[in-house]
Parts: sequence; C-alpha cells; structure tokens
Amino acid sequence: MKILITGGAGQVGTDLLHHLHARGAKVSVFDIAAPPEGLPPDVRWYRGGVDTASELYDAVKDAGPEVMYHFAALLSATGEKVPHRAYAVNMEGTRNALEAARLFGVKQVMFASTIAVFGPGLPDPVPDDVPLQPATIYGVTKVAGELLGAYYHRKWKLDFRGVRFPGLINAGVPGGGTTDYALHMYVDGIRHGKYECYVKPESTVPMMYMPDALRALVELSDAPAARLKRCIYNIAAVSPTALEFAQAVKKRVPGVEITFKVDPVRQAILDSWPRRVDDACARADWGWKAQYDLAKMSDDLVPKIRKMVGVF
Ligand SMILES: NC(=O)c1ccc[n+]([C@@H]2O[C@H](COP(=O)([O-])OP(=O)(O)OC[C@H]3O[C@@H](n4cnc5c(N)ncnc54)[C@H](O)[C@@H]3O)[C@@H](O)[C@H]2O)c1
Repeated sequence: MKILITGGAGQVGTDLLHHLHARGAKVSVFDIAAPPEGLPPDVRWYRGGVDTASELYDAVKDAGPEVMYHFAALLSATGEKVPHRAYAVNMEGTRNALEAARLFGVKQVMFASTIAVFGPGLPDPVPDDVPLQPATIYGVTKVAGELLGAYYHRKWKLDFRGVRFPGLINAGVPGGGTTDYALHMYVDGIRHGKYECYVKPESTVPMMYMPDALRALVELSDAPAARLKRCIYNIAAVSPTALEFAQAVKKRVPGVEITFKVDPVRQAILDSWPRRVDDACARADWGWKAQYDLAKMSDDLVPKIRKMVGVF
C-alpha cells in the first residue's frame, strides 16, 4: 500500500509515519519542513507547501499514493497569531489536497479534523451533528475542510473520511495547539522539575493518547465503506481537568511543581470548546473504542518522555 502524509513532520504525522511503515506501507511525506534524522531510508520526502498547488500536485503525481493522510495545517494557538497564513495553509491546502487526490487517482483521503470545529453553548457531551460555530480561524478552516471533503465525496465519489481529534498527547513535540499544556506538564515536569500551566486548574477538554489516535485513523481507513454512514466522526477518550493532569504527573514524577497562570487568549479558546464529545456514531459504524484512560496513558507516557529528554 502506497501512502502519502501531508504534514508528516508534525506531532501526529511523525508517529503515523513510523506506525504505517512498521505495518509494511510504502510511505511518502509532503511537508514544508526538512526531513528529520533517523528516517527509515525508504521513506520518500517531498518538500513544499500545501498552499502552493503545483508543489503538492507534483509530489502526489510522483508518489502515486492510494491513500493520502492530509495533516498539514496551522493549529489553533498558532492560527490566532497568523490568521491569514492559517487560512492559506488550512483552506487552500485542503482544497489542493482534495483536488490532487481527484486529479491523480488517490483512492482515499483521510482528514484530521478537530474538536475546534465546535463553538460555545453546545450540549455536554456534544454529538456529531450540531451547529458548527467555531471561535477560531483554525476551527473555521476545519469546518470548511470537512464540508469540502464531503462535497468531493458526493460529487466525484472520492473516498473522504476523517475524525475530529481531541487534544493529542504523545512523547513528542506539540505543534502549537491550545491543548499543548497537558503534554508540557509531563515534558517540562520531567526536564525542569516544574511547569507553569496557562489555563485554569478546572479547565476540561477532550484529550486522547496518540496510540488511540493512530488506531482510530487506521481502523477508520480500513473500515468497509458500506458500514460508514458519514464522512467525519467524533471520537472520544478522556476529559481530565488540568488539575487532574497535574496530579497524574506529580504521582509519577516526584517533587515536580506545577503552577497555574492564565493566558486569557488561550483560556478563551479552550473555554469555547466542549468538555466532552459523544462518539456513539464512530462506535456504531466502525467499532471505535478508546483504550487509554489518564492513569494508563500516564504510566506508558512518563518512561517514554524520560527517554526522549534523557532525564531518568
Ligand atoms: N495535535 C493535536 O492535538 C491535534 C488535535 C486535533 C486535530 N489535529 C490535526 O491533526 C493534524 C496534525 O496535527 P499535528 O499536531 O501533527 O500538527 P503539527 O503542527 O505538529 O504538524 C503540522 C505539520 O504541517 C506542516 N506544515 C505547516 N504548514 C505547511 C505547509 N504550508 N505545507 C506543508 N506542510 C506544512 C508542518 O511543518 C508540520 O510538520 C492537523 O491537521 C491538526 O489540525 C491535531
């Protein structure tokens, strides 16, 4: 199976690349960033911008993937700093990815959407089909990406599928999302013995450990089309408060000091998102079920982060 990942140098793409490569896929990456050290030698790396159609088209034509994971994006916190750039990367980039898939015979496009498509005032937990009135440019562009992909599915029969990821946590480098505080607690807690969290202790948003997120992508990609009643699915795992994250870190990293000092911009973004999502449709259609709760995730994550930062 030939697979191309746009944004494959990022937090999700890096882990997915190794995951798919280990399953025997022939993986190519398209990213504006240079390839990292330690890449498997048979991974092909195309360097370019998704917002420049010709660069993406040349790569897709050359790589000839059957499946394209479209991850290249600017995330919520970064997007608010440079909204015009976020519009270009996320909107034009997604249009270019879908068009490249249509032009060059890519069979399936997997899209990474987000809980940032939701705005304030929704039911708790929030189901899939609600009015989408996001508060950030990131959310606006992801709503548009979901709708455009569904249009390509209807109009040109492109097999377009995606999940609305919660905040994702792994032993990696976070990419400028508003939920990055959770991962920073573990990384800075282990590396520096302390972390100042930029949201209130009671802040609660949906979160997921990366092994669950990768499994969701692969299971949805593999699901028989006849079972899928929609293109985009909510997926849920855990919704700890920021304080509960701090307690989970403290339990496993003795002596760590986690304090809270609110950044009003990022707090406002977080407060516009749901506390929990309802993933009943994903469970019913393709058997989705998260496997990691906060304790199981923390037990697995802390040794990996210790190894990553070299502090034992
Ligand atoms: N990480 C999360 O918590 C989270 C949550 C919900 C959804 N998502 C979605 O998952 C996807 C991957 O997220 P991530 O956390 O890996 O993000 P990330 O910021 O770590 O990675 C994004 C990648 O896109 C690349 N990129 C940026 N601009 C580009 C351009 N113009 N052309 C080509 N590449 C470009 C970056 O170099 C980077 O490698 C994104 O679409 C994001 O919206 C992530």
